[in-house]
Amino acid sequence: MVSFVHRFVLKNATGPVSFLELGCGSGPNLRFTPRISLDCTGIDASEVAVEVCNARLERDGLRADVLHCPFGRLPFPDQSFNCVVDRASLMFADPATLDETVAEVHRVLKPGGHFFLNTIADGVAATLVATDTDDGSSDTDLYAKYPDFCLTSASALATRFGAGWVSPEVKRVERTVYVPTLDVTAEWELVLQKV
Ligand SMILES: C[S@@+](CC[C@H](N)C(=O)[O-])C[C@H]1O[C@@H](n2cnc3c(N)ncnc32)[C@H](O)[C@@H]1O
Repeated sequence: MVSFVHRFVLKNATGPVSFLELGCGSGPNLRFTPRISLDCTGIDASEVAVEVCNARLERDGLRADVLHCPFGRLPFPDQSFNCVVDRASLMFADPATLDETVAEVHRVLKPGGHFFLNTIADGVAATLVATDTDDGSSDTDLYAKYPDFCLTSASALATRFGAGWVSPEVKRVERTVYVPTLDVTAEWELVLQKV
């Protein structure tokens, strides 16, 4: 995310930069972007996440508009943002909502604006991610609740980001995790640009 913002957004910026995060959660990314003076907006379907995010921004003296808003129609005018990011959020949407949201991202981006998409990738046999829990155990069943993740395959990405988009950077990143067990995870890091 940091690398994307610097290499694709700030490098070409000629004025103020408007930034939208889809599914911002409790806002780890929204504590980075206001610090480098981006004009920040986040949306999330979880009221709790929005509350926590706003409380943390206030605690840290940072400014961002964080809205309780599910994916689908986005409540912003056309061409509002220089960049939009999604870190592991859109993949939870059902296919129809995903399609609508991708069209909306295209609408709210300025011409030439960038969309950074970071989502899990298929092609690894492992359990994806094990989450450490407070009691020292791990929860490898977390993702079993979401058997139908969208956007995990190269073909799903190519289908969704055809007309209207170019992709200046596509990375598939594999990591081997040794704790708590040996596991391999894979993610897409996709930079798309509105044409
Ligand atoms: C794995 S968290 C990622 C949070 C944040 N992007 C980050 O990098 O830490 C996924 C987030 O997506 C949100 N989310 C899932 N489905 C959503 C939907 N249909 N509309 C809006 N937000 C959604 C969840 O509430 C959650 O905060």
